[in-house]
Amino acid sequence: MAGAGGGVGGTPPGALKEGRQSGSVLPTSLEASGLKKSGWGLLLTGIVGGTLVAVYAVATPFITPALRRICLPFVPATAKQIENVVEMLRSRRGPLVDVGSGDGRIVIAAAKEGFVAAGYELNPWLVWYSRYRAWREGVQDLATFYISDLWKVTFSQYSNVVVFGVPQMMPHLEKKLEVELEGDARVIACRFPFPNWTPDQVTGEGTDTVWAYDVSTFQRKRRDALTDGRCASSRSLKNKMY
Ligand SMILES: C[S@@+](CC[C@H](N)C(=O)[O-])C[C@H]1O[C@@H](n2cnc3c(N)ncnc32)[C@H](O)[C@@H]1O
Repeated sequence: MAGAGGGVGGTPPGALKEGRQSGSVLPTSLEASGLKKSGWGLLLTGIVGGTLVAVYAVATPFITPALRRICLPFVPATAKQIENVVEMLRSRRGPLVDVGSGDGRIVIAAAKEGFVAAGYELNPWLVWYSRYRAWREGVQDLATFYISDLWKVTFSQYSNVVVFGVPQMMPHLEKKLEVELEGDARVIACRFPFPNWTPDQVTGEGTDTVWAYDVSTFQRKRRDALTDGRCASSRSLKNKMY
């Protein structure tokens, strides 16, 4: 008779109990440890992925300027260079701009000298850091920073233009500033001079050399050259006529 024990051919109660234990408890613990493992795996993937995204987000703005047609990487001005720039600004007035302002050190130094100063910089991290530095130094009312491509900005409103560029960009910037700047403006170049202008003042040496160019000087030279050219052509015309 098939009894409570499960009858003939049935599974013995003890065996059933053991089976239930082995059929439910063991897989559950395996499942739990599997879940635990996949939890750690997910966390690790999240950490690695997050770190990679953060590194990418921070590093990209520093790398992209080097990949542009004109490669202008972030190389901060030295303390001596800043000192030389400030010297070139003595007895100058009016708004100042640093073209490619990096971490804002030149703009902040100028603001400390009382200039209303602005910086244009492609790298947003550097702009945010510059704003923080200006605030920390207490010149946030005089120093303004823009996330902007220097080639897309018109500098006509500035009387003092500072640039720490690279030789490759100087001929293009020279042409741009010649068109945009007013006659009373001064351009200050750090480390690399402009190729065609003649400096009105030079200070420092080696990599800390700074050149100052007064727009009035190169405008006068251009006018003189034009007049000379016109005189020469009218002289040659006269010679041909007589
Ligand atoms: C040589 S660093 C000079 C930094 C700062 N002026 C100084 O003297 O410490 C040149 C800066 O120009 C920025 N830059 C490069 N290309 C730019 C562009 N097209 N527009 C604005 N800034 C640019 C770079 O990110 C870098 O911070």
